[in-house]
Amino acid sequence: MSFTQFFDNYSDNLIVQYSLIFALLVGVFHLTIFLLKFGSLVYDLFIAAPVNFSKYGAGSGKWAVVTGASDGIGKEYALQLAKKGLSIVLVSRTQSKLELIAKEIETAYKVNTKIVAFDASTDDEENYLKLEKAVFDLPVTVLINNVGQSHSIPVPFLETEKKELQDIITINNIATLKITQIIAPRIVSTVNNANNQKNTRGLILTMGSFGGLLPTPYLATYSGSKAFLQSWSAALAGELAADNVDVELVISYLVTSAMSKIKRSSSTIPNPKQFVSSTLKGIGRRNGAQERYATSTPYWTHALMHFGIDSTVGVYSKFANKLNLQMHQSIRQRALKKAARLAAEKKD
Ligand SMILES: NC(=O)c1ccc[n+]([C@@H]2O[C@H](COP(=O)([O-])OP(=O)(O)OC[C@H]3O[C@@H](n4cnc5c(N)ncnc54)[C@H](OP(=O)(O)O)[C@@H]3O)[C@@H](O)[C@H]2O)c1
Ligand SMILES: *[C@@H]1O[C@H](CO)[C@@H](O)[C@H](O)[C@H]1NC(C)=O
Repeated sequence: MSFTQFFDNYSDNLIVQYSLIFALLVGVFHLTIFLLKFGSLVYDLFIAAPVNFSKYGAGSGKWAVVTGASDGIGKEYALQLAKKGLSIVLVSRTQSKLELIAKEIETAYKVNTKIVAFDASTDDEENYLKLEKAVFDLPVTVLINNVGQSHSIPVPFLETEKKELQDIITINNIATLKITQIIAPRIVSTVNNANNQKNTRGLILTMGSFGGLLPTPYLATYSGSKAFLQSWSAALAGELAADNVDVELVISYLVTSAMSKIKRSSSTIPNPKQFVSSTLKGIGRRNGAQERYATSTPYWTHALMHFGIDSTVGVYSKFANKLNLQMHQSIRQRALKKAARLAAEKKD
């Protein structure tokens, strides 16, 4: 029986009529939600005006603390925030690299800088005391939790070296929590001070990743560490909203850097400068992360990828997991081949 035959036979049946109307309403409901979300995504990415950083104290003697500031994305956060008129506390492992960047920033942007060098993988009390000492009298309004480490190459969890998994969790999670416990109170007291007549707000950005958005086989520990930051950051956003501090997790697919080991940028892989500029321009908007509070996927192609996965199979689906497994197995194969080639060249 064809649909038309079925319809001719049963169209005067009330149950059939109500079912059809119900199906239509459900369809219209889902389509409306989808179109509203998509409209909001397009507005966030391409129409909304860039955020004016004077709201976070730029140009009025306020400070930003940037971790992992000596390279890649963190260095770009430091440069671009300084350009907007914030003084910068630069935190990372290597003193000499930090000194060069501090000088570059002071000369180019006429703001102040301070340097704090420590190895976050040691989780040493001394590290945090150094940081505390550097900021105790500074009017800090911004914290960029950027420092992070991934696996040196994709690796099955059962073959992951103990030191690697320990370092990833210590740097990405423990250090981020402890640094935030030092800096966030400074931000809260700066923006809730009676002298804050301009109603300057505070800002805490934390670097998430597609590795945390999607469970990622062969990067299991890194994936878990970034998923941890998603929940922690959104929870903190709820807590600090009443204190005039905006807290946001920033989600990114690949960016050219030492960590990604990708040198050439493309439409889906921006360089750090392009990535950070899209992030700072779109603070407070969700961009590709339409379904998530206090979360943004700011780079436009990453945003479309996030939105696409979310509107179809979903980030926790078996399908997404399988594709991700295949992608990282093949990255591992290529990385192993390259390592073997380099080892052979060395022998010759
Ligand atoms: N690149 C990507 O494709 C990508 C994608 C998604 C998310 N992310 C996230 O973005 C953030 C920055 O990544 P990136 O690609 O810019 O990394 P990167 O180029 O490797 O830079 C890492 C920065 O962190 C510092 N750092 C590393 N280990 C440290 C330690 N043990 N103690 C103190 N500082 C340490 C480094 O300092 P030294 O130079 O002194 O060692 C450097 O300044 C990370 O959280 C990462 O997970 C990156
Ligand atoms: C940003 O806001 C400040 C203060 O409200 C204003 O003086 C400044 O002109 C604005 N900058 C831009 C680029 O709109």
